[in-house]
Amino acid sequence: PAPGWSIDADVVVVGSGVAGLTAALRCDAAGLHTVIVTKTGLGDGSTRWAQGGIASAHGEGDTPQQHLDDTLVAGAGLCDENAVRALVTEGPDAIRRLIATGAHFDTSPEGDLHLTREGGHHRRRVVHAGGDATGAEVSRALVEAVRAAALLTIENALVLDLLTDIEGRAAGVTLHVMGEGEHDGVGAVRAPAVVLATGGMGQVFSATTNPSVSTGDGVALALRAGAEVSDLEFVQFHPTVLFLGSGSEGRQPLVSEAVRGEGAHLVNATGTRFMLGQHELAELAPRDIVAKAVSRQMRLHDTEHMYLDARHFGGEMWQARFPTILAACRSHGIDPVKEPIPVFPAAHHAAGGVRTDLHGRTTIPGLYACGEVACNGVHGANRLASNSLLEGLVFAERIAQHITATSRNRPEPETLEGTTLPLLAPDSRLAIQRIMTKGAGVVRSSSSLAEAAAQLESISADADAETPGDRKPAVPGVESWEATNLLCVARALVAAAQSREETRGCHWREDHDDRKDAAWQRHLIVTMRPDRS
Ligand code: SIN
Repeated sequence: PAPGWSIDADVVVVGSGVAGLTAALRCDAAGLHTVIVTKTGLGDGSTRWAQGGIASAHGEGDTPQQHLDDTLVAGAGLCDENAVRALVTEGPDAIRRLIATGAHFDTSPEGDLHLTREGGHHRRRVVHAGGDATGAEVSRALVEAVRAAALLTIENALVLDLLTDIEGRAAGVTLHVMGEGEHDGVGAVRAPAVVLATGGMGQVFSATTNPSVSTGDGVALALRAGAEVSDLEFVQFHPTVLFLGSGSEGRQPLVSEAVRGEGAHLVNATGTRFMLGQHELAELAPRDIVAKAVSRQMRLHDTEHMYLDARHFGGEMWQARFPTILAACRSHGIDPVKEPIPVFPAAHHAAGGVRTDLHGRTTIPGLYACGEVACNGVHGANRLASNSLLEGLVFAERIAQHITATSRNRPEPETLEGTTLPLLAPDSRLAIQRIMTKGAGVVRSSSSLAEAAAQLESISADADAETPGDRKPAVPGVESWEATNLLCVARALVAAAQSREETRGCHWREDHDDRKDAAWQRHLIVTMRPDRS
């Protein structure tokens, strides 16, 4: 649809988690006219759900090099060492700036940052807030700073497509906005720098720790625009998500890895600790190893969950250290002080995304990406715990510096028309999630992926058909766009998972159960024709 309104800016930031808000604040501070657009409200994305914390080498005796070493091991041979070096060396300052922006982290009685541990870290190096509510504090501080700086923010704005100029450079985005006064309906923000910070795609699976807005919108936009997307097959499944009952779908409560960092044990139904002897770090092995072990135990015992036992913490420690998780468990009738917590692996984080360099530049000039939507090489095949908020902070800063240093005149978009894509009916979302969970979930095989690919094709064919099978019709709006974006990223993810015939990091192929460095120590890059889903 043709935009009914348009506004001009130097920078448009799409998304309002840690990455988007940090990039926007820094661009604004550099004097650039910056507009933030976000799908629902400021602070509604994944950031505010983050529990464990932010990793960086603050502790006595810890160094960025040790943080780098742990990150590379977790990444299973696919990290870009230069990207990781930037992350770990610039991380401590990025956290100090966040504190200066107004975020409060938990401290020791002496006033030092209190550090916890998580999987894959050989040291305590994770700063946290409110015990287990780190993301909520980070989000609060950044949202308040954005409001104080009076940045122009358009909420309830679903991004549709990238605008480009005659030379193929980014020139802004089109948006579908609901109920925002002068910016209602389909419109455009025209800007020579576009920062994608739309978060992840956890909603492509039935059970995820991600909020309902995490529908891969940024990756879908980038694919439609012809940008390169990389490493989509590496979806991290968090091993300890609260089990709410058979077939429970949508966002599920997380039980932070920090609970294991403080000494909780993973046990099976007989009370046996099954991580002992599996890895030198036992329950604190990198996340992919723990998620696989939990899945294997579930298969072995033919159950839908395992248990996390932290009764030995006692009520006082539970309340002081993990108040959010304690409340979530109790609200579902489980008291972790008295009983082990039923847990299972659920989709948590996309290690892949829109391919960028170390300045956050994508393969389309003027289009940047940071945070979970991006793939800049810091995560490789499996992200190290608590590196994601850090990535958002560090690479948002880098992007803002690059935009500031290279800022150019506002271009005239070649056309204000977005793509005319066949939209999916809203109820396709559920079908896509179930297909992906069955065929491309924690454990994959050539046959499960082929079945998923065929079923996704039939949903796609429905969208193209004049009469869309037995599905409800698509109505231009958020639900149909989200379903359309989910299909786009699901197809790309399945194609990548089919190609990678090995097991590495969080990509587990049971028909190729080993890591094949000679053939597969490389990245899979996906592009699409600009006018297709
Ligand atoms: C957690 O708190 O377990 C999640 C941390 C992360 O995903 O990095």
